[in-house]
Amino acid sequence: MVFKQLELENFRNYGNQSIEFHEKLNLLLGKNAQGKTNLLESLFIMGLGKSFRTNKDSDMIAFGKDFARASCLVEGEKGETEIDIIYQPDGKIIKVDGMKLSRSIDLLEHVYIVVFSPDDLKIIKEGPEHRRRFLDRELCQIKPVYYSDLGNYKKVLKQRNFLLREKNPDRNLFSVFDASLADYGTRITKERKEFTKRLQELSSKIHSDISQGQEELKLEYETDVFDKNQFRELLEKNFESDVYKGHTGFGPHKDDLKIEVNGTDIRTFGSQGQQRTAALSMKLAEIGLIRQETGCNAVLLLDDVLSELDSSRQRFLIDAMKDIQVFITATEIDPEVRALLPEGYAFHVEQGSIKMLT
Ligand SMILES: Nc1ncnc2c1ncn2[C@@H]1O[C@H](COP(=O)(O)OP(=O)(O)OP(=O)(O)O)[C@@H](O)[C@H]1O
Ligand SMILES: [Mg+2]
Repeated sequence: MVFKQLELENFRNYGNQSIEFHEKLNLLLGKNAQGKTNLLESLFIMGLGKSFRTNKDSDMIAFGKDFARASCLVEGEKGETEIDIIYQPDGKIIKVDGMKLSRSIDLLEHVYIVVFSPDDLKIIKEGPEHRRRFLDRELCQIKPVYYSDLGNYKKVLKQRNFLLREKNPDRNLFSVFDASLADYGTRITKERKEFTKRLQELSSKIHSDISQGQEELKLEYETDVFDKNQFRELLEKNFESDVYKGHTGFGPHKDDLKIEVNGTDIRTFGSQGQQRTAALSMKLAEIGLIRQETGCNAVLLLDDVLSELDSSRQRFLIDAMKDIQVFITATEIDPEVRALLPEGYAFHVEQGSIKMLT
């Protein structure tokens, strides 16, 4: 799929803006703090209904305004689709081809996005919550049922944790919560395990190519949950310690994704270069996975990453751009790198305004 057109109104630092995109490459150039990432953010939202930078929808509304709107025209395998997202202080409205969606889940099938930004190194280097968020984001895009399972799991978990913190919580009240937590939780764990296996197949091949056969990347999903009954027993067995801690100590919200290169944990022992290669390999593998799973080409958003990579890693990234639409932000671009990129449009972004460069 490709984005053909985008319209923004009061979105972040944009006033009124209408842009047509190239089906292959769109370069967004401009100084810092001008609105490059804001534009990528508006495209990302078209896919998942929420931002990759914040959970606060109201942040999208330009300072001093009382609403924001982002609309786009997407061309996919099944033809053209128009998506409108309107933010108001009390919530957002999502429309597809003029029809208001009652559930955000129905947005997922129209747009597939892979975003790669310097923040993605956190997936490799920082705490497990970054890896869980990575898995969740990708799975939500390709498996709408995962999106609803995850939402339900989080809701039940919040209720259970709330109950755990009550004075002398009544143990009998927990059986209903434990049963649904075990139900949603095992489904989530199963999907994440399966996804990890497939991501590992694709990303280890890419990682090996980038490292010229020197490095083997291994991904493994780590969990204490194996099946529904066992998860319920785990919850029951740990009830007292959960009460003591005031939250649920086991479940997919505690799981992790182990990332190893040549048999050692990359988080603690990997070099900067290995960590970057792993992040790049996992991102590029996502494009392949989305294609396998949905038959669609994802749109790749590269926020400030191209210039951060050395020339051999750049080459792999540029190679992956062949069949897909790409948006690249940068403060400037090396003419030698530019010459390697596919044909496309270049835009100049300045103070929330974007103009095509000729
Ligand atoms: N809701 C909002 N209303 C108005 N302006 C906003 C809003 N949210 C963010 N901004 C402004 O947008 C600008 C940042 O835009 P953005 O993150 O897109 O910059 P950028 O061009 O990607 O810069 P860099 O190269 O540093 O990454 C900041 O000046 C910020 O104040
Ligand atoms: Mg930026």
